[in-house]
Amino acid sequence: MHSHNSTTTDQLPAEQFNKARQEPSPAIVAHNLVKVFGETRAVDGVDLSIPKGKVYGFLGPNGAGKTTTIRMLATLLQPDEGNATVFGHDLIKEADAVRSRISLTGQFASVDDDMTGMENLTLIARLLGYQRKQAAVRAAELLQAFDLEAAANRQVKKYSGGMRRRIDIAASIVNSPELLFLDEPTTGLDPRSRNQVWDIIRALVSNGTTILLTTQYLEEADQLADRIAVIDKGKIIAEGTAGELKRSIGGGSLHVRLLEPEHRSPAEQILAKNLDSPIRLDSDPAALSAQVNDTKKVIAALGELEKAGIHIAGFSMGQPSLDEVFLKLTGEPAHHTEENEEMANG
Ligand SMILES: Nc1ncnc2c1ncn2[C@@H]1O[C@H](COP(=O)(O)OP(=O)(O)OP(=O)(O)O)[C@@H](O)[C@H]1O
Ligand SMILES: [Mg+2]
Repeated sequence: MHSHNSTTTDQLPAEQFNKARQEPSPAIVAHNLVKVFGETRAVDGVDLSIPKGKVYGFLGPNGAGKTTTIRMLATLLQPDEGNATVFGHDLIKEADAVRSRISLTGQFASVDDDMTGMENLTLIARLLGYQRKQAAVRAAELLQAFDLEAAANRQVKKYSGGMRRRIDIAASIVNSPELLFLDEPTTGLDPRSRNQVWDIIRALVSNGTTILLTTQYLEEADQLADRIAVIDKGKIIAEGTAGELKRSIGGGSLHVRLLEPEHRSPAEQILAKNLDSPIRLDSDPAALSAQVNDTKKVIAALGELEKAGIHIAGFSMGQPSLDEVFLKLTGEPAHHTEENEEMANG
């Protein structure tokens, strides 16, 4: 991707020009962002082009550099090298213009634990210049939208983890930002609260907000993000839609379930020979799975099983999961650390 401006678009070939016209200018364009802490290159040459009005996901394990990248893009941290524009404004030279169009959960709009949900949102609205009455109206509106009406007059420190995450997001959109940074908005939440946060994110996007989301959850990036940058050790190691990332590792995965668990060992040998790829033994004692690049081989392999008298209870072909993508790209599984989840809960 390259950025365009009106002085150069009319020099582009017609095809490119039409494409440029259809694609709105990106919300964020970053070139070679670098941030070094002592010996650690926390962010090590990141290039980005983040489209407007969509969810863009940063996916990576602990310490990958996700938060550091976001802090630079939100003007909280100066890059050591490189630069970026946010809605066309230079991150460094026009930091105020950038700041006026963005919001970052838990940073700019910090929620006070000792105050109630209502008090927090009203205060933020007042700070943003709302009149007293309008501030109360906006606060009530947000409490309702985030399903926090019943807890409106309770101190935030008495909120559950999920409620806390919702009030944090509510606080950061009092002024409907054009760009919202959500740094691991669902880490440590139970599935129900996670779904509520996902619904909120979808609703914000449908209202035109661009969202930059970081997550360690592959499923979350898969569900929400239109495009995903996979980050590891300060570098973007892959970028694309979830579908593109899955396709880039080739093929899909075959899952086979046998009628008789005792047939698993001979079945493993037959599949390995016919599929040319390592076979995984699933926790279900009658199930096996394998990465396949060629679906024709699958048909042959299943035929060989039947010929050997090994009966199949069922099989399915699926796209690889983002977990498999991560494993392939980094040689390591994406680890969601337990400690992290506990910290977020506690
Ligand atoms: N203020 C700081 N001083 C020193 N080192 C830092 C600082 N902030 C981050 N780092 C280091 O930079 C690297 C990237 O950290 P960062 O917080 O950006 O990772 P992350 O991808 O957000 O991880 P997590 O998923 O755990 O939040 C880590 O090695 C971290 O220890
Ligand atoms: Mg982080």
